[in-house]
Amino acid sequence: MKNVKVKCPGTVANLVCGFDILGMALHEPNDIMRFKLLDEPKVVIINKDEFNLPTEPEKNVAGVVLLSIMEKLGDNTGFEVEIEKHIKPGSGIGSSAASAAGAAVGANHLLGNIFSNDEIVQFAMNGEKLASGVKHADNIAPCILGGVTLIRSIHPLDIIPIPSPDLYVTVVHPQIEVRTADARQILRKQVLLKDAIRQWGNIAGLVTGFLKNDHDLIGRSLEDVIIEPVRSILIPGFNEIKSKCKEAGALGGGISGSGPSVFMLSKNEATAKATEQVMKDVYDRLGIEYNTYVTTINKKGVEIVSGE
Ligand code: HSE
Repeated sequence: MKNVKVKCPGTVANLVCGFDILGMALHEPNDIMRFKLLDEPKVVIINKDEFNLPTEPEKNVAGVVLLSIMEKLGDNTGFEVEIEKHIKPGSGIGSSAASAAGAAVGANHLLGNIFSNDEIVQFAMNGEKLASGVKHADNIAPCILGGVTLIRSIHPLDIIPIPSPDLYVTVVHPQIEVRTADARQILRKQVLLKDAIRQWGNIAGLVTGFLKNDHDLIGRSLEDVIIEPVRSILIPGFNEIKSKCKEAGALGGGISGSGPSVFMLSKNEATAKATEQVMKDVYDRLGIEYNTYVTTINKKGVEIVSGE
């Protein structure tokens, strides 16, 4: 295979209570990446969007992933990649993960699928390290595998796909940028035992709610007593959006990844759209520009669109 086109989905990391350990893939938005195999050991990056991301491979999320694959191969293989981003960097919808996961899956496909899913996740985490300073897989894993995933551990890697109910997801992206590295920097390094206990209860409740398709349990468990109280101060209108969306019938939700996007889960499309209207009304009133998505959980993950 000489070239391949892949579609890389946006993702919601953390799922409110599961900081760094839970995430899910979305049907919208998606990045598109096109790869070509080169017969000299170099990475060529061509940006097909307006984001002006670096084209030096060492400074580009997809670039460092491809370099790590080349290092593993240790031969004369190289890659050219065209990146068409639709997931805005700094949105909290897994923009860097889409590039990193897309690079690992696209390159693996060109190479004849020689690497396992765990190896692909390991390669892709090099991109997250560049973007946020820390290796974490709660965007990468659902982006690659689709659906909802639990990352029980990254040392050693232990990823558990969670069967997910057919829920609707409403996302609002206020047009401000929150860098993941900054949103991690402001977090407290220690937690109180009483908060940890409440968080464990919520994580277990959320996973059980997904497994049992128990909407009420999912809603009750979408509570974060550790990260959200700190990070929500970076997101204008956060508390109002959250409470009004729940009044409109959403099961619950919170910060998408490290923000500033906010997501809500709903049982049906009508509620998901009513939730979207609440989000629009709040940001219209605050005079803040935004994008919204009403979508569903993507159970496929990164998709090979074409190749020859
Ligand atoms: N778990 C990560 C965080 C996701 O919240 O910092 C953002 O990339």
